[in-house]
Amino acid sequence: MKPIRKAVFPVAGLGTRFLPATKAMPKEMLPIVDKPLIQYAVEEAIAAGITDLIFITGRNKRAIEDHFDRVPELEAELEAKQKIELLDLVRNILPAHVNCIYTRQSAPLGLGHAVLCAAPIVGNEPFAVLLADDLIDARTSVTRQLVDAAHQQNGSVIAIQDVAREHTNKYGIISGEAVNATTTRLSGIVEKPSPDQAPSTLAVVGRYVLEPEIFEHLRQTQKGVGGEIQLTDGIASLLRARAVYGLRYEGDRYDCGSKAGFFQATLALGKKYHGLIP
Ligand code: G1P
Repeated sequence: MKPIRKAVFPVAGLGTRFLPATKAMPKEMLPIVDKPLIQYAVEEAIAAGITDLIFITGRNKRAIEDHFDRVPELEAELEAKQKIELLDLVRNILPAHVNCIYTRQSAPLGLGHAVLCAAPIVGNEPFAVLLADDLIDARTSVTRQLVDAAHQQNGSVIAIQDVAREHTNKYGIISGEAVNATTTRLSGIVEKPSPDQAPSTLAVVGRYVLEPEIFEHLRQTQKGVGGEIQLTDGIASLLRARAVYGLRYEGDRYDCGSKAGFFQATLALGKKYHGLIP
């Protein structure tokens, strides 16, 4: 498999669950302690060797572009005041070898459609997809774990986690056969099945390494659950043609698309990395 250098960040969603906070601000800019969700995802991708960050944006998402851009006035001010630590922090949000590319999803047609918007930029290479809502605190970047597994298996790999059966309707759910202790070869995948219909309790977490063939499948994918073009349905079509694997990654995931998960992440990371004890 070719090296994996590009990562797609679908960030066009409206974030209605966090209104009014997200009325004028992208949900991906909500901070866990002092860092926006999107930056956690970007750092995870960079730790996996990704050099090209492709953001699929929409209206009201300018703050994300600004966040990863230089701010000369702020830098000059911090320099004048000799706030060197803060200056380094602001300057080094992205290493010099990393590029940001922004493209817009013109209408909210679903995650599969958002990923398809990246096709002309990704070209004919395998790539990663990271959903910033899923914050994963891990010793080894989960994207790195997926990249390594993709090279090992020579196929697409998606992050999976066991969930309670009553929650299957919040996730993509896979079925398949174990190839080793952590890896399952998929035989099926279905978006948000009800608990009584779910083929298993192995849920898709928002991290994927996909072969470029996914784009052909997404182009053929019809609207699915919620009237949206689902990435899950594209993967269901892909796995009929090529091997797709699920990886039980090592790390703690927080569903920061929900208030409860966001709150838990704030508590856990505040305690672990900032010494904040409530
Ligand atoms: C998306 C995917 C779903 C996946 C989930 C992980 O759903 O469609 O398959 O399990 O992310 O967070 P969403 O949370 O955007 O509804």
